[in-house]
Amino acid sequence: MTTKLTRDQILALSKAEKISLIYKIRIQYERGEEILIELDRCLNSCIAGNPQPTGLMLVGPTGAGKSTLLDQFVAQHPRQPGEKCDIVPVLRVPIEKPANVGNFMTSMLKAYGDPLAATGSLARKSSRITTYVRESKTRMLMLDDIHDMLEPGQIKVTAMTSDWIKTFIKESKISCVLSGIKGRSEVLLESNEQLGRLFPDPEEVYAFQFDTDNPETIKTFRKFIYSVEVLLPFPEKSGLSELRTAHKIHIATGGLIGYIMELIRYAAIEAVNRGVDRVDEELLHLAFRKRLASERRGIKNPFTND
Ligand SMILES: Nc1ncnc2c1ncn2[C@@H]1O[C@H](COP(=O)(O)OP(=O)(O)O)[C@@H](O)[C@H]1O
Ligand SMILES: [Mg+2]
Repeated sequence: MTTKLTRDQILALSKAEKISLIYKIRIQYERGEEILIELDRCLNSCIAGNPQPTGLMLVGPTGAGKSTLLDQFVAQHPRQPGEKCDIVPVLRVPIEKPANVGNFMTSMLKAYGDPLAATGSLARKSSRITTYVRESKTRMLMLDDIHDMLEPGQIKVTAMTSDWIKTFIKESKISCVLSGIKGRSEVLLESNEQLGRLFPDPEEVYAFQFDTDNPETIKTFRKFIYSVEVLLPFPEKSGLSELRTAHKIHIATGGLIGYIMELIRYAAIEAVNRGVDRVDEELLHLAFRKRLASERRGIKNPFTND
C-alpha cells in the first residue's frame, strides 16, 4: 500500500512514481467499511450445516464505488494455489451479453481459469462448474453490473439465467452477491420470487451528501476529501477539505466518488507535471473543465482560475 512510504520518501519520488501513487489511492470510508463487514458476514455464513448462506444485493448509482468494494473484498480473500487446483474463496464473474445460461456458465468457467471454458454442452459445463466449486472451496459467487442482464427484449433469457443461478446457489450452498445500478437491478429479485427469497433487502451505496441542515453529512464528506488529500505527494497542504473548497468539490461532483477522484486525480497529476507544491483552485478549475464538464452538463464550473 502507498501509505507504507514515509512522507519524505514520497516527496523524493520521481514524477512518474508520484503519478502512479496518485492512481493507486484507495480510501476507506464508513459506508464502504460497513459493506465490507456485510460481505464478510455473508462469506462466513457459508459453513457446513447452513442450508442456505446469506446473499447480498448491493445497489447504487454509477460511480458510487460498488465495483471497487467488490475488488477490495476479493483482494482480502485472494485465490491461492491448492493441491489439485487453485483455492478460490470468492469467484467474481463478469456478465457477458447476451446473458444467457450458456454464456454465463462459460464466464464462470473462465473465472476459474478453465482453458476450455467455452466448450461442451450445458450439462457438461454445469457438472464442471460443480466440480470447480467443490475443489476450489468456493464460498461466494459475485456478479457485478447485473443491470446488464436486464435489458429490454431479454426478459426470457434473463428469467432462465436467474433461474439457473437460483438453483446453482441453492444446490452448492454458497453465498451470492449481486451488484448493480439502483432502480435497474432490484427487478431481478422481484421477478424471480424464489431467488428473491434468498436475499435480504438491498444494501445501498450513495453519493456523499452536503446538507447544511445536516452537518454530519458535511463532516463525513470533508473527512473523505481529507483522506484523499493526505495521500497526495505534495510538500504543501492543498486545503481541499476546507469548508469552502469541499463545498465546491461537492457541487462539481455531486458527491460521487468516481467524479471526486477523477477531479482530484487530474488536478494532482497536473500539479506533479508542472512541478508545483500543491493542488490549487486553478488546477481544480482546469480538472473540472477537462474531465467533468461534459458529464456534469449544466453545472457551472465552481472553481475560479484567476
Ligand atoms: N474507496 C475508494 N477510494 C478511492 N477511489 C475510489 C474508491 N472507490 C471508488 N473509487 C473511484 O471511483 C471510481 C468509480 O468507482 P466504481 O467502484 O467503479 O463505481 P461503481 O461500480 O459504483 O460504478 C473508481 O474508478 C475509482 O477511481
Ligand atoms: Mg461498477
